[in-house]
Amino acid sequence: MAIVPIYEFPHEVLRKKARKVKKLDDSIHRIADDLIDTMQNAQGVGLAANQIGILKRIIAIQLPEEDPRIYINPEIIAKEGEREVPEACLSVPGYTGIITRSIWVKAKAWDREWKDVRIRADGLLAQALEHEIDHLNGILYMDHLSEHQKLQKVEPETNLEEIQEED
Ligand code: NI
Repeated sequence: MAIVPIYEFPHEVLRKKARKVKKLDDSIHRIADDLIDTMQNAQGVGLAANQIGILKRIIAIQLPEEDPRIYINPEIIAKEGEREVPEACLSVPGYTGIITRSIWVKAKAWDREWKDVRIRADGLLAQALEHEIDHLNGILYMDHLSEHQKLQKVEPETNLEEIQEED
């Protein structure tokens, strides 16, 4: 387990598509542990493997007051609605923006025991799933900005979490 560097925009690894994990072995558990340690150290809500330079479809998510979750090969299988939410990313430090996300999503994935999991989520979990699965496809949140919207700079002393919760 280790805290590892987070790659920042415009590093090309953030624009690559991650590959499916085909079997669960120790190397996958190590990546999962590094994702959790690095996410927690950065006080983020989520982290995708691309962000630590690994092109495998693995994400970590940790909601406030909850245990960290690992999802392997996660996929959005249904989503509905639109809402505007403030968002930020550990790979784009110092900025935030308002973007459109779904009201709820359904996703499927494998967990660390290679068990099939289905997740129906709204609120911050839905936003985090969309954000982190985007990372696996080389998409960054500012790609969802409308034309009239801009990224805002945040003060360096602001303790910004990767994804801010809606008020
Ligand atoms: Ni991010």
